[in-house]
Formats: sequence, C-alpha cells, structure tokens
Amino acid sequence: MSLSRAARLILIGAPGVGKGTQTGRLMKRYPQLASISSGDLLRNNVRHRTPLGIQAESRMKAGALVPDDMILRLILNELTTRGWLKSDIKPYSLNSASISLDFQKGADDIFFPSIPTQNYEYSDDPSASFILDGFPRTAVQASKIDELIPINFVVNISTPAAIILDRICNRWVHEPSGRIYNTTFNAPKVDGRDDITGEPLTRRADDCPETWKARLKAFEDNSMPLLEHYDKMGVLWTVEGNSSDEITPKLFSEFERRFGAR
Ligand SMILES: *[C@@H]1O[C@H](CO)[C@@H](O)[C@H](O)[C@H]1NC(C)=O
Ligand SMILES: *[C@@H]1O[C@H](CO)[C@@H](O)[C@H](O)[C@H]1NC(C)=O
Ligand SMILES: *[C@@H]1O[C@H](CO)[C@@H](O)[C@H](O)[C@H]1NC(C)=O
Repeated sequence: MSLSRAARLILIGAPGVGKGTQTGRLMKRYPQLASISSGDLLRNNVRHRTPLGIQAESRMKAGALVPDDMILRLILNELTTRGWLKSDIKPYSLNSASISLDFQKGADDIFFPSIPTQNYEYSDDPSASFILDGFPRTAVQASKIDELIPINFVVNISTPAAIILDRICNRWVHEPSGRIYNTTFNAPKVDGRDDITGEPLTRRADDCPETWKARLKAFEDNSMPLLEHYDKMGVLWTVEGNSSDEITPKLFSEFERRFGAR
C-alpha cells in the first residue's frame, strides 16, 4: 500500500508494550516506511570507525551517556545521506527551519565543528517516510528534531500496566506441589488450574522482577512531557488495546486515514 505524503512517525509505549512488533508490521504493510533507529546508527558508526562513532564509543566506555547533540548529528547525517533533508541556501523557503546546535566546547571541536546556523529543507515525498526509533526520549530532544524535520504522527500505545506485567511475569505456581507453569511457553491445559489436580494456580507478586516495575514507572514519569509536547503539536494519537493483535488493525486504519493514497 503506497502513501500520499511523507509519514514521519514515532511510537511511544511502555517497555513490553510491543513497539517493535508494531514497527515491524507497519514496515511490512507500508514498504515506503524506513526505520531510523538511533541505536543502529550509533552501532554502525562505531563499527565503521567514523569520527562520531569513535567519540561516542569513548563516551560509552567511560560509562557516560552519548550527548543529545551527537545522536542528533547521527540522525541528521542519515537523513541527509538519504536525500530527505537538504541544506538550503535559499533564505525563505516554505519548508525550511533554522537550527543551531550547541556543541560542547573543548577537544570535541576538533571532530565536530559547530554546525553553523543553517537552513534545512525536508522532503515531503512519500518515499521520505520513516519511523524514528530510540530518539527523542525527552521534550527538549523532541523540539530539536522538530526544528530540523517535524514529526507528523506520534502514536501513544496504551495498554494497562497490569496487563503488560502479566504478560512479562507469566509464572503461575501450584502451591501444594510446587509445579510451575509459564503461560507463554508451558501453559496449563486449563487457564489458572493445575494440570494434575485441577486445583487453582497462584501467582506470587515477587515472581515479577522488580526491575520491570521500576522500568514501567520510569517510563510513565519520562514519557509524560514527551507525550504532552506532541499533543500540543497536534500530532498525537492514542490507541488502546490489551494485545498487539488488538492494536495493529486500529493503527493501520488511522495511519491510512492520515497517509493513505487517495
Ligand atoms: C497516553 O496514553 C495514556 C494511557 O496509557 C493516557 O493516560 C495519556 O493521557 C495519553 N497521553 C496523552 C497526552 O494523551
Ligand atoms: C517463560 O519461559 C521462557 C522460555 O523458557 C522464558 O524465557 C521466560 O523467562 C519464562 N517466563 C517466566 C516469567 O518465567
Ligand atoms: C483489557 O483488559 C482490561 C483489564 O483486564 C479489561 O477490563 C478490558 O475489558 C480489556 N479490553 C479489551 C478490549 O479486551
């Protein structure tokens, strides 16, 4: 199925909600959609020993975060290489935006001289469609991307936390015998019942790794400003569902309503 204009997507959802699944399904159905993953770009640059890759790697080895502006530069390079973003010499063009990236002063400048304030023009051709993955994670980062190339569809994937935890922490125990069932890989023949005695199974709260609960909580705290940012920009859409299979058809139909060829 082909698109009528460029789609620039971000999927936002709790860990375990199935963002990767939805991304894969979107890309399969709409082959014009590319995946631009900040993690992949970083790994590729490290592997190919680019100046940015070398610099990022030394940060990571020192246990430091890779600064926003480095990630932004990776994305900028990728979009420019694909021809979806062009440095624009005409001062007043419809799709241009002015950016100025503040690079940290110091040794880094040898590798990355500051990008002078420059106009960029982005392509609205359907072939310039992508899902941006891994970045932005904060509202500040989102504003920086918006200045370069505005994201035009942000999906808030909403599944109750209890359901996600249930999916991840899917261990059920038959207390008297100690038999353990794993609802994904070793499900009981009858839901919630021991195979041999037919007695009820229980799930202990501590079966669920605390790290998952902590990650979920961190997601909720961090994603709020990001969601609000895109809501203000008028590009946010929330989809609810308890499983990926329930969410996919809703996502496809909304995506087609917005970007489908007429
Ligand atoms: C995103 O979805 C959550 C439910 O997961 C909802 O509570 C929240 O209001 C939504 N955010 C926005 C900005 O609509
Ligand atoms: C369920 O089984 C799979 C495969 O053995 C395993 O990866 C997963 O961690 C198990 N889940 C739980 C909660 O034990
Ligand atoms: C999703 O799960 C919640 C909680 O179990 C339930 O109340 C709700 O009806 C479910 N929604 C759908 C569409 O199945």
